[in-house]
Amino acid sequence: MKTVAPDTDTDMSDSILTHRSDETSIVKGAMQPDDRDPEILSLRPERLDEYIGQAEVVETLKIAIEAAKIRSEPLEHVLFHGPPGLGKTTLAHIIANEMGGTLTVTSGPALEKGGDLIGILTHLGEGDVLFVDEIHRTPKTVEEFLYPAMEDFAVDFVFDKGIHARSHRYRLKCFTLVGATTRVGLLSAPLRDRFGIFRNLDFYSLEDLVRITTRSAALLGVGIDTSGAGELAKRSRGTPRIVNRLLKRVRDYAQVRGDGAINRSTVEAALALEGVDNLGLTRLDHSYLKTIIEYYGGGPVGIEAISATLQEETDTLVDVVEPYLLKIGMVIRTSSGRKVSEAAYRHLNLPIQQKLF
Ligand SMILES: Nc1ncnc2c1ncn2[C@@H]1O[C@H](COP(=O)(O)OP(=O)(O)O)[C@@H](O)[C@H]1O
Ligand SMILES: [Mg+2]
Repeated sequence: MKTVAPDTDTDMSDSILTHRSDETSIVKGAMQPDDRDPEILSLRPERLDEYIGQAEVVETLKIAIEAAKIRSEPLEHVLFHGPPGLGKTTLAHIIANEMGGTLTVTSGPALEKGGDLIGILTHLGEGDVLFVDEIHRTPKTVEEFLYPAMEDFAVDFVFDKGIHARSHRYRLKCFTLVGATTRVGLLSAPLRDRFGIFRNLDFYSLEDLVRITTRSAALLGVGIDTSGAGELAKRSRGTPRIVNRLLKRVRDYAQVRGDGAINRSTVEAALALEGVDNLGLTRLDHSYLKTIIEYYGGGPVGIEAISATLQEETDTLVDVVEPYLLKIGMVIRTSSGRKVSEAAYRHLNLPIQQKLF
């Protein structure tokens, strides 16, 4: 990979990362921390056939990609939504690989001005893929440039101001926009409606997580038996990124404290040190549940109150902590706020409180 200075007036230095198949990549900031980790990159599946789970999403993409190729057209714009770590970025890489286009990566918050986006758009080639992560955080003024770009493959420049204002339409190459968001509810309707393919990524099943564990262990060259893979999968909150992260911690533990191979007891011992319990809940999950129970009588309580008591960002709680707790039924969302379920009391070994009011 090599770093190349942008050759436009617009400074794109914070907002672009390009992957080219011939390895001459333009690398800039605005990457997700995990995208920068070469180890994780190598664990990323590169083709749809290697992608484990999310069968319906994979099938939709296979059909759409094949149809686009038959018609020699670019793939329709794709939006993925779902909690972090479930494979949105990975799918964007895969789409570019399968379509044979160059992938340019940016994110909503990195696109501060309309010019940032125009600079990126005008550099896209025919059939290229533009991945916009956290697309719900794209500023409104920048989002407006996306509409004609997505719909007509054009951007409208406006010169001068007031009565001298003139608009000039610049044609873009036909590209595919892949958007990812953890909060589809925050996406504006006009933007959402411009995506032809709109898919939700859900938490992975235990079987899929076991397959991902086994695949990653093989790529990392570490031995793991069935009981170890099952235990790790069970504690990974339905999330491939967590599988990979915990696998590396367990691998370290097995190499230093054991004989290098991973089995159930190495997983149990290593994850106890990490503060990950037998359901995969972390210290933050525990504090979240305990806050609702100890300070708010089990709820219902608003998210702002929980985040103030915990001194955690509301966004972290909503994007990272809550989705899995909701999924496994530890928390319930009601119109008056969050409530913990009986399962949460049992899991934390706390007496169930009866609310007196
Ligand atoms: N279906 C999958 N099969 C195998 N590994 C996966 C899969 N989906 C995701 N991963 C792994 O999980 C990591 C996180 O995925 P990523 O695409 O970055 O998630 P997101 O963009 O949704 O936050 C990737 O680095 C990849 O190694
Ligand atoms: Mg991502």
